Amino acid sequence: MTEPDTRTQATRTFATLDRRAFLRRLGIAGAGAALAPALVRDPAAAQADPTLAPFLHGVASGDPLPDGVVIWTRVTTDQPGPVPVDWLVARDLELTDVVASGTANAGVERDFTVKIDVAGLAPGTWYFYAFEALGTRSLIGRTKTAPSGAVERLRFGVVSCSNYQAGFFNAYAALAERHDLDAVLHLGDYLYEGGASAGARTNFAEDRSHRPENEIVALADYRQRYAQYRLDPDLRRAHQLFPWVTTWDDHESANNSWRDGAGNHTPGAEGDWPVRKGWAQQAYEEWLPIRVDDPARIYRSLRYGELADLIVLDTRLDGRDEQVGSELMVLFEDEVRNPDRQLISPEQREFWHGELSASADRGTRWRIVAQQVMLAPLNVVALPNVEELLGVELPDAPLFLLDGPAAAINPDQWDGYTVERDRFYDHLRAAAIDNVVVLTGDIHTSWASDLTPDPVNPLVAPLGVEFVATSVTSSGFENILGSVEAARVAEPAVQVTNPHIKYVDLTRRGYLLLDVSAERVQGEWYLSEPVQATRGMVPAFAAAWQTVDGSNRLSPGTGPA
Ligand SMILES: [Fe+2]
Repeated sequence: MTEPDTRTQATRTFATLDRRAFLRRLGIAGAGAALAPALVRDPAAAQADPTLAPFLHGVASGDPLPDGVVIWTRVTTDQPGPVPVDWLVARDLELTDVVASGTANAGVERDFTVKIDVAGLAPGTWYFYAFEALGTRSLIGRTKTAPSGAVERLRFGVVSCSNYQAGFFNAYAALAERHDLDAVLHLGDYLYEGGASAGARTNFAEDRSHRPENEIVALADYRQRYAQYRLDPDLRRAHQLFPWVTTWDDHESANNSWRDGAGNHTPGAEGDWPVRKGWAQQAYEEWLPIRVDDPARIYRSLRYGELADLIVLDTRLDGRDEQVGSELMVLFEDEVRNPDRQLISPEQREFWHGELSASADRGTRWRIVAQQVMLAPLNVVALPNVEELLGVELPDAPLFLLDGPAAAINPDQWDGYTVERDRFYDHLRAAAIDNVVVLTGDIHTSWASDLTPDPVNPLVAPLGVEFVATSVTSSGFENILGSVEAARVAEPAVQVTNPHIKYVDLTRRGYLLLDVSAERVQGEWYLSEPVQATRGMVPAFAAAWQTVDGSNRLSPGTGPA
């Protein structure tokens, strides 16, 4: 691929977008004012910028192909609908060199969201797009198709766990400033289902408590929660500037969800789980720029030329058996090793393993697997007594006080489904598949691990690597262990008893940058404070680990790429 000077181009674009948005706002002041009364009825709309009406939630794009991309917007209106929405895609920011256009309808059946799967585009190319409805044009979005053929370099911003109530979306703001990303990958917990009191912090300068105020259980609830999140200006801008590739974790439905239930679902009082799950999946499909035929089947793959295949999994709702025990309980149960146990459906497993084989057979350099929960084991055997080390009492720290045989601590991650992990490893070995990079979210902290079938035996070669992105806002181990100091003590202890874990940060928020070349894939963690209490906190480079072509293991990185 001929690599455009994306930094220069994007910077120019960014500045121009601001200027144009400003000019456009001047032009539609009347329309914004006219719609304002409708917004006032909804407290969640307090964040809304009325000058963007009727496109208050901005624009988004996703699931890029070499010849296409999904573009998205939403119309906020009192009209019963349907509302005709014109759309166009152009090569230039002025939207004069139009390559595709059309009209769609925004209606109540899709919560007035509009999603277009644009075809006929050129590979590895920046495009600009916009919508028009009710006489007003939307913000201009920028997106990029996937490259084809030889590709020199790829960069992805990787994020997860963005609880609106836990703080500000500074990681999204930082990604929007990078201008060097091919896409943003969101690994789940895009929103949280809890009510306004669940984990809400009240000392922020702006009210960030959840709307609706109840735990979301019905279709209208899930839709309203997405509508609230998407009014956040940092999230809106990150969607506006890059295509996103997303998958859900548990909180898009309910905490610790699985195929037939969830830890945070009470059958009866909160309805039937299949109905609630279906509503959660429907709202997700409506609000995210994702290309799926069936809202319940979001596992899929995307190709980035000869450099990388991106395989996206759903380890949460598609086939997962119920968790054995609850989080932070030590697993001694033999049940996790039950050979009939599954984390994903047989159909998804066949798809995933088949995609890995096909990718290797094509000679694609890297196989990047975007999924939810930590795949590497996390063993707590013989960890030191944190209370003794610190000389303090920690009310919530039972898991690091263990003496005894090897034990995993979180049955919600792959440790609770060891047979599924063995199936994956067996497939990599049997098919001699190398250069596998697993991307993970969920745990609100940063990790880099070798994926090895026997972590304590150095003679057993790793089969790949795992990079775990921290959360955008959700609290980390400082919350579980009672203090930042306790979490910092636990970091080296974790590594002593888990030799496959090469890097861990248990307290900071931010994002992961994945930098891909033919020679290596490097994960870089950009981190800031545990609590994102204000806007404008900027995550800084914290660490880099890489895997070199053919090594199937981690080595220290080379600093910010
Ligand atoms: Fe989370």
